Formats: sequence, C-alpha cells, structure tokens
Amino acid sequence: MKKRTRVTHPPEVNVPADNRPLVAPIYQSVKFTFDDVDETLDLFRHRREGFYYSRISNPTLRQLELLLAELQGRDGCLLTGSGIAAISMPLIALLKAGDHVVYFAEQYQPTRALIGRVLRRFGVTSTMLSIDDLDGLERVLAATPARLVVFESPTNPVLKVADIERLTAIARRHGALTLLDNTLAGFHNHGQFDVDLFAHSLTKYASGHGDVMGGAIIGRADLIDSMREDIGILGPTLDPHAAFLLQRGMKTYFVRWDAQCRNAQHIAEHLSGHAAIERVRYPGLPGDPGHALARRQMHDFGTIVTVDVAGDAEAGSRFAERLELFSITASLGSTESLVVPPALQKVRGLTETQQRWTDIGPGTVRLSIGLEDVGDLIADLDQALAATK
Ligand SMILES: Cc1ncc(COP(=O)(O)O)c(C=O)c1O
Repeated sequence: MKKRTRVTHPPEVNVPADNRPLVAPIYQSVKFTFDDVDETLDLFRHRREGFYYSRISNPTLRQLELLLAELQGRDGCLLTGSGIAAISMPLIALLKAGDHVVYFAEQYQPTRALIGRVLRRFGVTSTMLSIDDLDGLERVLAATPARLVVFESPTNPVLKVADIERLTAIARRHGALTLLDNTLAGFHNHGQFDVDLFAHSLTKYASGHGDVMGGAIIGRADLIDSMREDIGILGPTLDPHAAFLLQRGMKTYFVRWDAQCRNAQHIAEHLSGHAAIERVRYPGLPGDPGHALARRQMHDFGTIVTVDVAGDAEAGSRFAERLELFSITASLGSTESLVVPPALQKVRGLTETQQRWTDIGPGTVRLSIGLEDVGDLIADLDQALAATK
C-alpha cells in the first residue's frame, strides 16, 4: 500500500471484548459499512440491527436516546440539533394542510411563531388560548377537532403550572395528540401523565454547562418510529460529538438539578419578602397559584425564579445590569446564574388579551439559578436591588 493510500486507510486498532472503555467512545463517523450488500439491504428492511448513515442513526446518539427515553418513562426517542427542532420536527411530521393545532399564549415565543406564523403558511390552522383556560380548550376542541395540543409546564417565563391530567384527558377525549415541551420540568418529571410526546431542549439541563445545543423528542416507540423517516429527510440531526457532550452532561444531571432547585427555593423565599420586588413567581412557594398543582404533579419545582421588580422595564434593566453573578443572556439551566430583563422578554405578535394571558409585566425578570453558593447569589441580588431603588 502506498503512503498516499495508507493515510486514507490507517491501521485498525481493535479493543478486545473483555477490555472495554469505561466511557463509551464517540462514534464520530458519518458512515457505517458492511462487507456484504445483502446485510446492508437487511438493515434497510429492518431485518437486522446496525447503522448506515449518521443523519438517520448513530450509536452515540442511540445511547443518549435510550437514556432520555428511560428517564422520561417512554420507549422511543429521537434527537435533534436544537430544542426548537424537537418541537418543529414532530409538528411537520404529524401535520398536514387543513389540520388544526391548539397552543397557548404563555409558551416560548419561537414555538408560538412556529405554529401561528410558519405552519400557517402551509395551511395549518391554529387557536391560541391561555393555559389557565382548560374550559376554553374543551370548547375549542368540541367545535373544531385538532390534531395536536402543544403546551408547556411550567411555562416560560412566568412559570404557570398546567393541569396536565385534565389537559391530556380533554385532548384524548377529542382525539387530539398532546406535545408537552417539558424543558423547564426536566426529564424526570411528568412521565406519569398520558402525554403523547415530550419535547426537550437539551441545550438546557442535559448540557448543563451552556456549551452544546440539542433537542429530544420522546414518546411511545411506535409514534416516534412513525416520524423517523420524515424527520430523517428533514435532516435536523445532532452531531455525534454534541451527543457525547450531552451524554457526559447527563451524568451530573440529578446532582445539578437538585442543587439548583435548592438554590432557587432559597432565593424565591428570600425575594418574597423584599421591598423592591412586587411579586415572585416560583411554584415552590406555598402562595404561588401553581403550588398545589406542582406539588401533585412534579417531584420538585425547578431552577427558574421569575420576579417582578418594582417600577418599569427600565428598573428591570438596571437591576439586571447591576447583578454581578448573573449574566444577561438567553437560555437557562446552566451552572452559571443567568438573567433576562423585561426589555428582552418577547411578547410581540400578541393581541392585548393574549398579552394579558402571558402575565409578563413591565418589570418581569427571569432568573435562571445556577450552582453558585446561594449566600453569594442572595447577596448579589440584594446589592443589585438596593442600587436599583
Ligand atoms: C421552554 C423552551 N423550549 C424550547 C427552547 C428551544 O431550545 P433551543 O434553544 O435548544 O432550540 C427553549 C430555549 O430557550 C425553551 O426555553
């Protein structure tokens, strides 16, 4: 073999079967080969296990899919390159022109834009309600059957808690599938409910470290498999290296989650009594409107605390700018604490009534609580609030 050939066919290293790596290696390979064409065809016909092309499946992704499905209490999972792709892909795979979707004003803004603007161009109709209005959901579905009900709990950013048992029962009764963006609740919450599909932004708590993006669609294997071919063609796949980093992030998922929830609870309680704060939204507070429901349906209350600072958006911006341990930026669920001031909360494209439903006020600030020492975080919040006043 000439050296020119050798560099494209390097020596093989075989790891003995009784000498396994403790951490699964990254299968950073786009292609997988068989020596035999019939074996390849058998794979295409689902007659054997294996891999062929990483846009469709890859062992590193498969390991993460199996883990996330198990945590969420389902047997099917498909990974995507971002969280929003984990919402857009099932919508595109499941819907056709003429179908109707119900969604909610309190949802993540890009999800609203996807349903209300993008899918509309493809002839999908939609109705927006408030997540507080499940009587309205019953009425709408009775009048206009829907293929899908898309919702969140707790909602981003004001942390309203959806009554999942009631919502899914209404949807089921009217023949609609449900898709729950479960990002803010985590993989270990809500699996007990009759939800057809869960979507997660892995960019948040799976990554944990703010350095990798991804998404997961989780549900019954038959439903997930029914979408696999279309989603494979649409091509949103996750890169194996990103899947490896997410898998690594998952090893500390519960440790981070528990510590961040504890910090969030302390901070919510501390800010509740603060003169410069008008309102604290955190389902872990006994006075929160979602507390009883969250206690019933979740194991914990999450790592986001949303507050309304006294004054206007300007006061919210000053507060965010004065914070030293919280960074002004998008996203959530990192080890670092993050803050989104009112000026960066997106409520555009809503009617006045819908804006009221979102419950985002002039001073609404979202805090994503990190892993720092909680005393340091509280001192930082106090100094920023004192300076804002
Ligand atoms: C609730 C929720 N869903 C979905 C997404 C989208 O995730 P990604 O940024 O990974 O596309 C986000 C991102 O902030 C989110 O907060």
